[in-house]
Amino acid sequence: MFRSHTCGELRSSDVNSEVTLSGWVHKSRDKGFVIWIDLRDRYGITQLVFDEERTDTDLLEKARTLGREFVVQIKGKVIERTSKNPNIPTGDIEILVDNLVILNKSLVPPFTLEDKTDGGDDLRMKYRYLDIRRTPVKNNLIFRSKVSMEVRKYLSNEGFIEVETPYLIKSTPEGARDFVVPSRMNEGQFYALPQSPQTFKQLLMVGGLDKYFQIVKCFRDEDLRADRQPEFTQIDCEMAFVEQEDILTTFEGLTKHLIKEINGKDVSAFPRLTYDDAMKRYGNDKPDIRFGMEFAELTDVSKHRDFGIFNSAEIVVGIAVPGGSTYTRKEIDKLIAWIRRPQIGAKGMVYVKCNEDGSYKSSVDKFYSQEDLKVWAEKASAEPGDLLCILSGSIKETRPQLSALRMEMAERLGLRNPEDFAPLWVVDFPLLELDDETGNYHAMHHPFTSPKPGQLELLETDPSAVRANAYDLVLNGNEIGGGSIRIHNKEIQKIMFKHLGFTPEEANAQFGFLLDAFQYGAPPHGGIAFGLDRLVAILGGQETIRDFIAFPKNNSGRDVMIDAPSPLDQEQLKELHLKIQS
Ligand code: AMO
Repeated sequence: MFRSHTCGELRSSDVNSEVTLSGWVHKSRDKGFVIWIDLRDRYGITQLVFDEERTDTDLLEKARTLGREFVVQIKGKVIERTSKNPNIPTGDIEILVDNLVILNKSLVPPFTLEDKTDGGDDLRMKYRYLDIRRTPVKNNLIFRSKVSMEVRKYLSNEGFIEVETPYLIKSTPEGARDFVVPSRMNEGQFYALPQSPQTFKQLLMVGGLDKYFQIVKCFRDEDLRADRQPEFTQIDCEMAFVEQEDILTTFEGLTKHLIKEINGKDVSAFPRLTYDDAMKRYGNDKPDIRFGMEFAELTDVSKHRDFGIFNSAEIVVGIAVPGGSTYTRKEIDKLIAWIRRPQIGAKGMVYVKCNEDGSYKSSVDKFYSQEDLKVWAEKASAEPGDLLCILSGSIKETRPQLSALRMEMAERLGLRNPEDFAPLWVVDFPLLELDDETGNYHAMHHPFTSPKPGQLELLETDPSAVRANAYDLVLNGNEIGGGSIRIHNKEIQKIMFKHLGFTPEEANAQFGFLLDAFQYGAPPHGGIAFGLDRLVAILGGQETIRDFIAFPKNNSGRDVMIDAPSPLDQEQLKELHLKIQS
């Protein structure tokens, strides 16, 4: 028996018990006549004591040889501590050790395994197994497991069954590049790893399973960011005989359940915003609605003077930053420099200080009267003391720029409290999106999404006006889930493929299996997939998903611990019928 108790378990009620513990040497303090060792395992830390008076000399000497992260087993008696440590649950007791077995030695770890470590990102990732020993990382993984469990519990109770779908498949377009796997047995042919199990879950509905879910790995070869990994996990769901309303209700239920069970918070009915409204009011299809600062469109009320920049702009739009009128000229200049950075790309910013005395001071006083500025301030619901920040230009560029500024100001003002949860549904997404580079349309969600009823005809005349039965679930400014009602009719699916630029032959070659299946009684169906990594990170009060993944990839898509990706040897390349071109 390696242990009778864990290192987080013993209390004063255990005093005088004989116990066996196993764990890692977290810290050792050698005062000569007495040695204290903090023994650590997943459950906590227990203090061990060896001293000249009560410990025999050999044992004391052996304890002296223990280095950080040695793995040991000890036997001993629980005793009351003379100086208690109220900061840890086991702080009232310590173990007077009478037997010590070194189970394994350890090199000195390359960084400190404390809550706040001195290890940089690269080092921590290279030795991720040591990083996982640190409490914050360990807790994040425990937290993730708890969320997954709650998801399984909730969906099982709702009658969903978990079905595994294959990883070696044919491309499923979700808008990213595929990771591909060469086939040894089929020369010159490749599998694609799923960007999502989209087509399979639809086939499960054709198969009559009615309610499916899966906590599943997805693979996307795309540029990485804090909220994106090349392999990530979805809570993937599909239901038959449903309309959009059924899906929204079911998964609003799941989200509320999680926020309640995990965070102990009740949230009321999720607001719903159309895509168009979200873009108008927040410049963003995943608005953070924990705070206001909604967009005020000032186009109509700013074009009547000689200010050329506004006169030639497609849109003039502003936000009122609470308390911002105290910004000095220098601070405002800094803000302007911030929004002019290439990542944001605004050309400049007009500002109006709403003074406490009801007057206004703006950077365009030359062109606009106090009356004009008052109208703007009212439109933006600016209070005395606020700073009105106004951008102008094309709708496509200006809204995202102002959205970035809104988020930045909220961050600076501390309005993005991670303990507040403000979920919402964004609905009625456009079906298609124009690719500026190629001039082609592509599906905004994916090609299997159905247009809103009665809008099919519009596809011929005004494709960008067609709205889809598609929805996103947004939490605190992050897209944590997205889905749609699907096309379940072969002819409509063929029309969609045609509009997405597939020839009938290409559509058949890539998706013939789905078109075939639609001929055998495909039920109306729809679904959603949550990004589990994102959901867990946000429920955990953070936005970097890497911290909630046991073995994440770095920003170049590398696993620096196992050093992947890596070259294949000639033999393997030959077997796979691959030639590397130099
Ligand atoms: P979608 O592409 O919107 O939909 O993906 C669903 C959710 O997955 C998460 N997500 C990611 N998380 C981490 N890293 C990534 N690279 C990444 N990409 C996406 C997001 C997103 O909302 N098959 C459809 C779902 C459906 O229609 O039912 C799909 O995959 O949180």
